[in-house]
Amino acid sequence: MNLTEPQSLPEQEAQVLQVWGRASLQGHVKISGAKNSALAIMAGTLLCPQACRIRNLPSLVDVTRMSEVLSALGVQLERDGDILDVNAGDIGNGSAPYELVSRLRASFFVIGPLLARLGVAHVPLPGGCAIGARPVDLHVRGLQAMGAEVRIEHGMVQADVRGRGGKLQGGKIYLDYPSVGATETLIMAATLAEGETQIENAAQEPEVVDLAHFCRAMGAKIRGAGTNTILISGVERLHAVDYSIIPDRIEAGTLLVAGAITHSELSLSPVVPEHISPVIAKLRAIGVKIIAETPDHLRVIPGALRATDIETLPYPGFPTDLQAQFMALLSLSEGNSLITETVFENRLRHVAELNRMGANIRVKGRHAIVHGVPMLSGAPVVATDLRASAALVLAGLAAEGKTTLQGLSHLDRGYENLESKLRQLGGNLQRVTPEAKEREDSPSGVAQ
Ligand code: UD1
Repeated sequence: MNLTEPQSLPEQEAQVLQVWGRASLQGHVKISGAKNSALAIMAGTLLCPQACRIRNLPSLVDVTRMSEVLSALGVQLERDGDILDVNAGDIGNGSAPYELVSRLRASFFVIGPLLARLGVAHVPLPGGCAIGARPVDLHVRGLQAMGAEVRIEHGMVQADVRGRGGKLQGGKIYLDYPSVGATETLIMAATLAEGETQIENAAQEPEVVDLAHFCRAMGAKIRGAGTNTILISGVERLHAVDYSIIPDRIEAGTLLVAGAITHSELSLSPVVPEHISPVIAKLRAIGVKIIAETPDHLRVIPGALRATDIETLPYPGFPTDLQAQFMALLSLSEGNSLITETVFENRLRHVAELNRMGANIRVKGRHAIVHGVPMLSGAPVVATDLRASAALVLAGLAAEGKTTLQGLSHLDRGYENLESKLRQLGGNLQRVTPEAKEREDSPSGVAQ
């Protein structure tokens, strides 16, 4: 494995990000490859005994972690910039190590391709997480419907089809909820299964479609990805592929909010506007103009901000991964907004941090009532999860004074160079060690 990728080192975790407010941004920003596509597609390379080249791979801690999981399974990986060469020709015994899987929920998704390829998979339960319990029952029940014997013992999911000729059997699977991860696990599992698999109430997210396109480019037979019914006809073998990941719609949405919240005109590319239509619709309702300059180029033109209601839903509804960033924006919009989080049960923890910055938000169950205020004020805040950390950076850019964000390991998991992208647009952000911060804060300029 040759990976010169972001690592979540203890000293990085101890760093804080200082954000100076009342920022005025301008210019163009390049959107990176989609994190959630990258993670699923990396798992998907396990299906293929030949070389796979993945392009437009973002540099993220989560991507490094997925590389480590694949490497532990015997996959050869070689990275050069945003290109990853993967060879899973010689994978071992199908056991993913606990200490790696526990750090990245998406690495549980290797269970589908491992089982399809080897007839056996041992993958630890991914464990709890800051935004909710996030169980994997839908993944497990889907694999059982395809003939796998699944036992969960000592925190390990052990799936086996060796008693059935080593092959998963196609079947009809109805998902109780259109889970992104379960849909991806089952698409991957079904590509090499015997016969046809039908996934009903499937997730329709663009990243699911990207994974399906990747599998099809390797020779898989998949129809209906992007609708709620996906049909997969199993094939004997997949072949080498050279594939480019779609742009990250969540990063694009985050930067559109950056323009709106700082009253700045920005342009972004590449984007697939269709992937963020609910986001564009909400920005327009809030009073922000979004112009498609070319098919993959958007411009945000600021306007007076007004309240609107948001409910997070599976795609094509409003994405839960942009709920926190929109809450920062609505906290500065005139009037009262109601935000309802329906996807995760514990994804409103950023409310307390935004309130520390002068926002006026009340939580009732899964609802947040946001009373718009004219100004936020910089404060020390703590990131509670990945998207919350982005929301606090956005709030910090708009606020009066300096915001100091702790918990940067969350930000580094899922945004490629967010600070340097914002700096290039004119934002004033700096990562410092706590000692440097103390020196700066002390009146004499000397650490006390
Ligand atoms: C993916 C995304 C994440 C996004 C989420 C929802 C990746 C790597 N991550 O996560 O950024 O926020 O989709 O758009 O792609 N659930 C169950 N049982 C299961 C699986 C899920 O109850 O077996 C529940 C979860 O607890 C959650 C809801 O379904 O409440 C949605 O989860 P899911 O769509 O599976 O999200 P992930 O695939 O984990």
